[in-house]
Amino acid sequence: MRTILVTGGAGFIGSNYILYVLEQRDDVRVINLDKLTYAGNLDNLSAVANDPRYEFVAGDIGNRELVDHLMPKVNAVVNFAAESHVDRSIMGAEQFMHANATGVYVLLEAARRHGVERFLQVSTDEVYGSLAPDEAPWTEASPLAPRNPYAVSKAAGDMMARSFYITHGLPVLVTRAANNLGPYQYPEKRVPLFITNAIDDRPLPVYGQGTAVRDHLFVTDHCEAIDLVLRCGEPGEVYNVGADNDAGGMELTERILDALGKPRSLIQHVTDRPGHDMRYALDIAKLRRLGWAPRHDLDACIAKTVAWYCDHEAWWRKIKDSWGYRAYYERQYGGR
Ligand code: NAD
Ligand code: TYD
Repeated sequence: MRTILVTGGAGFIGSNYILYVLEQRDDVRVINLDKLTYAGNLDNLSAVANDPRYEFVAGDIGNRELVDHLMPKVNAVVNFAAESHVDRSIMGAEQFMHANATGVYVLLEAARRHGVERFLQVSTDEVYGSLAPDEAPWTEASPLAPRNPYAVSKAAGDMMARSFYITHGLPVLVTRAANNLGPYQYPEKRVPLFITNAIDDRPLPVYGQGTAVRDHLFVTDHCEAIDLVLRCGEPGEVYNVGADNDAGGMELTERILDALGKPRSLIQHVTDRPGHDMRYALDIAKLRRLGWAPRHDLDACIAKTVAWYCDHEAWWRKIKDSWGYRAYYERQYGGR
């Protein structure tokens, strides 16, 4: 039996990964270390809460004593824990630096001291910056040029992880993924926000003219990629995880409305995000060579995600009805 310390496992991708790995691998135990910020939600993990191979620990990855206590029990670390929303990082980035930079350092240091066999740092395409329409997709060799506080904090984590491989020989792997879609995504991110607003016939706030382009990766495809890189990736290497599902903001919004049978009149153009990255695109040849390919095209990503939010109203209404969410929404969109 191998034990994986999954950090941030109560968030969107982390909870999908825990459900995936416990389902797929009989020989794996999971310890989920999560601080339960506004984005952490144990409802996501109710299906495994009583599984003897699953243990939840409430705590901060920046807590050195706690991390030191857990590390001797684990063979591998998969670090999802992060502050993850660009718009919140624009409001203030202190927690981003704490979780995404210092927190990664604390985990790496403990992993090194206790001789952990594999350390996978879950990162993002945003560390590469922003592409012009005619530029080729980023490879893993592309320079890092992050442009917003969230992306900078993630790049700091990536670079610290790299340094622990080079300096200390810790077997570190880094994945850099595109925008994820799927079950359990907190409805501050564009896709679940737009789906749930549309269900309630509320406006969909499109930043600027809706021309920014994103690649869209279904979350279970991301989980499969992480599982593969953790087992078969080369230590010290970075792996891009994209799906070639590019879409501009207007196209994506219209597809969501069409999937729900809702009118285009719900689209409301609002003031653009400062420093808005206009295009992300990844070259995924390296991960394909390892044996991975995305299973979901853009239609499948949208159809499955829309269906999940339609079928799980109680999950997202509990969040959207909360005081914290309402306060955030007013601050972010009120008078925009
Ligand atoms: P999320 O915001 O849904 O979840 C983050 C989780 O981390 C939450 O459960 C939160 O409670 C926990 N957390 C935050 N700070 C913590 C701390 N200091 N100690 C312990 N736990 C802490 O995020 P997500 O969308 O699931 O993203 C997971 C990871 O994947 C992040 O590292 C993110 O940068 C990366 N990523 C996300 C996307 C995406 O589209 N969502 C794309 C590429 C990469
Ligand atoms: P988001 O889901 O925040 O992910 P990221 O900025 O990390 O890619 O945003 C995705 C895209 O959607 C991005 O181009 C900004 C845009 N967007 C809106 O137009 N309106 C919104 O309310 C949000 C949250 C995002």
